[in-house]
Amino acid sequence: MKVAVVGATGLVGTKMLQVLAERNFPVTELIPVASSKSIGKEITFKGRQFKVVSVEDAIKQKPDVALFSAGGSTSLEQAPLFAEAGITVIDNSSAWRMDPTKKLVVPEVNADVLTADDKIIANPNCSTIQMVVALKPLHDHYKIKRVVVSTYQSVTGTGVKAVDQLFNERKGIDGPKVYPYTIDLNVIPQIDVFTENGYTKEEMKMILETKKIMGDDSIKVTATTVRIPVMGGHSESVNIEFLHDFDLSEVRTLLSNSPGIVVVDDTANLKYPMPLDAHDKDEVFVGRLRRDETQDNTLNCWIVSDNLRKGAATNAVQIAEYLAAKNLIGQGIEA
Ligand SMILES: NC(=O)c1ccc[n+]([C@@H]2O[C@H](COP(=O)([O-])OP(=O)(O)OC[C@H]3O[C@@H](n4cnc5c(N)ncnc54)[C@H](OP(=O)(O)O)[C@@H]3O)[C@@H](O)[C@H]2O)c1
Repeated sequence: MKVAVVGATGLVGTKMLQVLAERNFPVTELIPVASSKSIGKEITFKGRQFKVVSVEDAIKQKPDVALFSAGGSTSLEQAPLFAEAGITVIDNSSAWRMDPTKKLVVPEVNADVLTADDKIIANPNCSTIQMVVALKPLHDHYKIKRVVVSTYQSVTGTGVKAVDQLFNERKGIDGPKVYPYTIDLNVIPQIDVFTENGYTKEEMKMILETKKIMGDDSIKVTATTVRIPVMGGHSESVNIEFLHDFDLSEVRTLLSNSPGIVVVDDTANLKYPMPLDAHDKDEVFVGRLRRDETQDNTLNCWIVSDNLRKGAATNAVQIAEYLAAKNLIGQGIEA
């Protein structure tokens, strides 16, 4: 399969190349794409060198599938051009996620909504992906009424420049800043811009995307999203109220038996999920499972995952794998 990676020089794009190689996705030809400043740069993939090209050149080469991670405005402009040429786009930005004509997919939850007619498929927000992977088996058994989530998000979620800011600050170098404040030794309770209701866009993404992916508008979600000076993954404290009561050991079994989840919940031995342990892994790690003793049918838990992998690259590649396995690439109406 001819595969274009748009944003191949970025944090997510680099991880996509790594995940495509590791999972042995059947890439016959790689087309790396980035901004004009990177054209001609060499990218190594499975020991072979590929030159970065422009989006226009990439479309001319007619890839079967294009994995986009080059920001929302690039996606809004370029993804339709790929789709019109019959190329299946899997997009990591927020550009298409809430478009009612586009599918928003986490394979463990709702891959079955995909058809050959879907030419632009949206990859959800990283914090939302790891949360819905854990919510899905619980919703199927106990029906979720309300979720209260607070996030502790890695600087890798903001891209290369944010990682540079953290390490510059740590070394005492006065470099460019992508956050409005110092991030090293600090906690910033703002991710993305504020909206009129006082929530940030990141918080609204978690609220709205969860309902869309789970296919259930009745699930109430409220979120506080926070940036912390950590690499390796996002962590989430999640309080879940169900319609029906649950048994804690059954919750552990349900989660352990669900695809993509690893339960790390052995407090006697101080075992719980942490970003250092989740780094460069594909799974969603769940622990600190306990009843909320202040309210009936309510569970507290702690969810950690590598935002660049399951939160972005791995989820996108899993969507491509599903499409390939079901023969849904290159078959659609626009093809
Ligand atoms: N980081 C995460 O955890 C995460 C998770 C989910 C989704 N995302 C989304 O993924 C996207 C990329 O994030 P990132 O963290 O990888 O950012 P990043 O490290 O800043 O990389 C951005 C990439 O986009 C390329 N690019 C920029 N403008 C372009 C243009 N006009 N045409 C073609 N390529 C262009 C850049 O190329 P140059 O190197 O040439 O500038 C670079 O390859 C964003 O939309 C982000 O919201 C990120």
